[in-house]
Amino acid sequence: MDKLTELLHMIEQDMLPSAAEPYLRLAARYFDLSRNGQQAKPVAPDPESLMQIATKSPPETGRTAKEIVAQMERDLLPNSNWLYHPRCLGHQVSAPLPAAVWAEPIIGALNQSLAVWEMSPMATVLETRLLRWMADLAGFGHDAGGVFTSGGTEATFTALLAARAAALPDAWEEGLAVGAAVVTSEHAHYSVARATAELGMGARNCIALPSAAFREHPERLAAELDRLQAEGRTVVAVVATAGSTATGRFDDLELAGRLCGERSIWLHVDGCHGASALLSAQHRKRLKGLEKADSISWDPHKMMLLPLSTGALLVRDERRLEAAFSQRAPYLFHGQATDRVWDQGVRSFQCSRRADVLKLWIALERYGTAAFGSLYEHLCATTSAIYDSVRRRPVFEAGPEPECNILCFRYIGKGNLDEAELDTLNASMRRRLNGSGLGWITGARVNGRDVLRMTVMNPRTRPSDGEAILDALERDGRARERAGAR
Ligand SMILES: Cc1ncc(COP(=O)(O)O)c(C=O)c1O
Repeated sequence: MDKLTELLHMIEQDMLPSAAEPYLRLAARYFDLSRNGQQAKPVAPDPESLMQIATKSPPETGRTAKEIVAQMERDLLPNSNWLYHPRCLGHQVSAPLPAAVWAEPIIGALNQSLAVWEMSPMATVLETRLLRWMADLAGFGHDAGGVFTSGGTEATFTALLAARAAALPDAWEEGLAVGAAVVTSEHAHYSVARATAELGMGARNCIALPSAAFREHPERLAAELDRLQAEGRTVVAVVATAGSTATGRFDDLELAGRLCGERSIWLHVDGCHGASALLSAQHRKRLKGLEKADSISWDPHKMMLLPLSTGALLVRDERRLEAAFSQRAPYLFHGQATDRVWDQGVRSFQCSRRADVLKLWIALERYGTAAFGSLYEHLCATTSAIYDSVRRRPVFEAGPEPECNILCFRYIGKGNLDEAELDTLNASMRRRLNGSGLGWITGARVNGRDVLRMTVMNPRTRPSDGEAILDALERDGRARERAGAR
């Protein structure tokens, strides 16, 4: 058989239902391991030991699916972070909802590109429908629109591009006026400063104001906006955060909305983490004023527990998103200037784009919208219970009271070490805990100090899992103090 005939034969074979089985069985086996006895497994591998594999080239001739799946079971599963482990309390990446995981092969098989409607007839309709649903939840009116994104970084970039188009309409053609600025707070995600730089405004013109109690500082924000405007500078946008990365705190959106409204400044709310609180009757209050925003980034791959990537950007006025991308591509976009264009490509940074909307659609159809509110509340309640346990332990200093599922704390021990020594000790405690395989947490820099940080992204995590991690940290911290080590 020549190479091409062999390949075509393999493709035919791989289209048989039986060909799907080894792959699906592997994913199902992973879920099964997660349900049973996962406590025995390390939460995460040692990444250093894996580097040697990075140098291997792919094979010139193919292998059987059975061999590949066996290798994945041997090498990939044990060397991946076990997000379904109840003691995996690390970054804001979910233990993904299984129904949405099962959507992945369908997304891949259909391979619909959201660039234009004719390439993704039903997927475009579903994306439009779910964006409408999200915009309604956010309190936006019927001019609203948006686009699914690879995540919050792309959503914020796109929002600031739209804000730039609104503030400096000639920037796309003519380049940038000097002195344009974006104002945010020190706890904003780095994607805000990155987008400011990428948009040609200069990273140092992303002004990150000191915050008050881990929120945007009202007087400072007002004073800074007035100062910039008095200097004749264009404030392209204010970015408020709903659920900040390090501490999970929510800015006062009503206040930010009022300050921006009075000054005709674009308000972007980075709700990547916290916008899902809209689904919870108990937590929705944290987003009061959200409807005043001009744009919102919202990552269902965070607190709605969808697999990566499922992000979204919502804008109060869809036309302002279209204005961000002042391009014509007659070979692709066929809409008339007077119609609403269904092609989502006119609203997206990307051209070819996966139908990630299907994951959200399947998850909502399977579990129902109410379930997502309960999930949100459950993750937050587990976090609060762990926080209470931190507070009961004198060796730890608790960070700000959690407003969602993120909590920060710092080992202070008996109080004999200075702040710099405690920084070193806390950072090393995290490394030892994660290396032990017993649990997995992250760290952050809060108020200029190294702290330990947990994010509860797994509905199967119980308060006792957090307690077990705190026990291990406490034992380690005490032992280090006794040994005089940092
Ligand atoms: C508040 C906030 N904004 C934006 C992002 C970036 O989102 P993504 O990783 O989906 O690009 C994150 C990620 O952690 C975040 O916490």
